[in-house]
Amino acid sequence: MTRIVYVNGDYMPEGDAKISIFDRGFLMADGVYEVTTVIDGKLIDFEGHFTRLERSLGELDIANPMDRDAWLEVHRQLVGQNAVDQGMIYLQVTRGAPGDRDFVFPDPDTTAPTVVLFTQSNPALVDSPKAKKGIKVVTIDDLRWGRRDIKTVQLLYPSMGKMMAIKQGADDAWMVQDGAITEGTSNNAYIIKDGKIVTRALSNDILHGITRAAVLRFAREAQMRVEERNFTVEEAKSADEAFVTSASTFVMPVVSIDGTELGTGTPGPLATRLREIYIEESRKAAI
Ligand code: PDD
Repeated sequence: MTRIVYVNGDYMPEGDAKISIFDRGFLMADGVYEVTTVIDGKLIDFEGHFTRLERSLGELDIANPMDRDAWLEVHRQLVGQNAVDQGMIYLQVTRGAPGDRDFVFPDPDTTAPTVVLFTQSNPALVDSPKAKKGIKVVTIDDLRWGRRDIKTVQLLYPSMGKMMAIKQGADDAWMVQDGAITEGTSNNAYIIKDGKIVTRALSNDILHGITRAAVLRFAREAQMRVEERNFTVEEAKSADEAFVTSASTFVMPVVSIDGTELGTGTPGPLATRLREIYIEESRKAAI
């Protein structure tokens, strides 16, 4: 089935979509994105993703091209037109296409941002075979820029990190700065020791995950103990459990770090419980 996508105000078959070669997203990675999950044809945590989009755009001085209701309408149109039951919506806003390459930002009065959205179906999102087995991670240096709190489309290093992991027979990489884990290539990272959930505190070093915020809230509501602080690679390897969170993986158990198995080498009880709670609560709150 040909997908219907959204480009700068218009809905069209994916094959008809066109973006200028002068687009600053293409030439300079000058753009931001969001990934919103769809379950039962409904949006998970739309408000969180919209709020973070506004913040990312604001940090880069790009005007938000649409208000909340207009964004919601485009999301819903695409879910409906593409009959997405489980999957995600990708959205990208770039600084636009000024018609030449230049390091200087174009005048926003004459160059409008580029807006693109498309859907990706994934019927196995909730009932994920990976979540039943857990994933293996390896650690790599965090060589990204210093503003990882802005959700930019500069994803080359995370993509390389994922490939480094796959080449070693693992599923993903956790990035390390000054001996402490920052986050996964496209997810936030957590360990659990003696019943306590530990994850790095929010700063410019990591993306402020929308799933992270929800999961920590649910964990605290379920009387689980949470500590937001740095943790080292050594601490992670001696943890009882570990997991990652993101819009596309929810809560995904991690069963091995750099070849060291955690606990029994199978998804831990707290991570498994958090995944259930997250899916259940998100489903209830979906719009
Ligand atoms: N990635 N950290 C990084 C570096 C990420 O790229 C992501 C999301 C997260 C988790 O954020 P959230 O819970 O809001 O999805 C953390 C998305 C899913 C992606 O790039 O596909």
